[in-house]
Amino acid sequence: MPDRTPPRDPAAAPAGAWSGRFTEAVADLVKRYTSSVDFDHRLAAADIAGSRAHARMLAAQRVIGEKDLADIERGLDAIAADIEAGRFEWSRDLEDVHFNVERRLTETVGDAGKRLHTGRSRNDQVATDVRLWLRGAIDDLLARLAALRHAFCDLAEKHAATIMPGFTHLQVAQPVTFGHHLMAYDAMLARDMERLADARKRVNRSPLGAAALAGTSFPIDRERTRAELGFDALCPNSLDAVSDRDFAIEFAAAASLVMVHLSRFAEELVLWSSPRFGFVTLADRFCTGSSIMPQKKNPDVPELVRGKSGRVVGHLVALLVLMKAQPLAYNKDNQEDKEPLFDTVDTLADTLAIMADLVATGIEPDAQRMRDAAREGYATATDLADYLVRKGLPFRDAHEAVARAVRRAEEKGCGLEDLPLAELRAFAPQAGEDVAAALTLEGSVASRDHPGGTAPSAVRAAIAAARASLPAR
Ligand code: ARG
Repeated sequence: MPDRTPPRDPAAAPAGAWSGRFTEAVADLVKRYTSSVDFDHRLAAADIAGSRAHARMLAAQRVIGEKDLADIERGLDAIAADIEAGRFEWSRDLEDVHFNVERRLTETVGDAGKRLHTGRSRNDQVATDVRLWLRGAIDDLLARLAALRHAFCDLAEKHAATIMPGFTHLQVAQPVTFGHHLMAYDAMLARDMERLADARKRVNRSPLGAAALAGTSFPIDRERTRAELGFDALCPNSLDAVSDRDFAIEFAAAASLVMVHLSRFAEELVLWSSPRFGFVTLADRFCTGSSIMPQKKNPDVPELVRGKSGRVVGHLVALLVLMKAQPLAYNKDNQEDKEPLFDTVDTLADTLAIMADLVATGIEPDAQRMRDAAREGYATATDLADYLVRKGLPFRDAHEAVARAVRRAEEKGCGLEDLPLAELRAFAPQAGEDVAAALTLEGSVASRDHPGGTAPSAVRAAIAAARASLPAR
């Protein structure tokens, strides 16, 4: 650890070491280190809404007078207007959004402003603000998720019958439809919406009234502020109310999963758009060129989606570690919840918007390349085995017979469907004239027409169900 002890006699110190301004400089550093207004000014609208509800409750409970309430409301209106217009001057000297607003209120309306904080602490105030802000952010994100899901449904509908290889271990496995593949992402995003809506329930509880940690001796009406602020319930314990950040962690976890899902899709776009796959072309506006290689078109947007998933997962970890050793109740550590939370919301909001645009208008599939790739890897081998089972062969025997047929086709460098029937019968005597139909890609996907299957009809049913579950656009 560096030794920062100032020399005993500052006058004797070499110039530029520990000057007489030392105390001053450290004070500035501490101010910068401890103040949060540079980022928490984003909570201003929530802070004002919370203050208004608190003041109305205090007036209704006769803790402050009607004149005080009128002054406070007038002052808060003016402050809200100033902030909205970008006229409000935030001061780092006043530490955070709460002190900045309160000081201005007092400057504007006098003593009434000083009465606002009766029966309240910045501890329940900031918890209230963060919850209100996050509730609004979740509602916005849910709308963005719905828009992205609509885009997936639209693209899936266009390609309900477009054949592509389905992969396991990134090896060609069985033919699927591109629409079905896209709807897999819709299924992930549907769970994401459930998770966010569920997290919202625990975000939307009112800590107001917990005051610093122990509640207040004033005759407050917590139920009144809860209702006015649109919270669903009260936080039941004052110590927990001011120190709980579970709701932020739950949100960050749900957000991380959204990013992980989008990162998986992004990775597929990177693969599919590489000339080796050539399954899709991405619109130019989602790509950039190389500064040195003139031929390059790089899938920057998908790569950044993949990359930004790391920072959101990082924010989740930051919040978990932030909480893990905090004794009850409020600790200043909690001020560190805001930047991860804000950046999580910002990153997710941008990512959802850009992905919705990309899915809606930026992906041009090459149906022929996809189809050719599906033909390459003996993707209908399972269909041949199923065909033989239907002819009476036990599945394990059918599996073995087809494996040998595949080896033969491989030797000949042809597809299973190109093996003459006589040759196929050497491995599987049960094969008849109708075997050709079982080996077509279209026949393969069409046969999987149960709920959750890849048949065009099943994909269309999945799209209809997804749309019915979504808010209209
Ligand atoms: N800026 C602080 C925060 O974000 C507000 C609460 C301060 N409370 C306190 N006891 N210092 O957490």
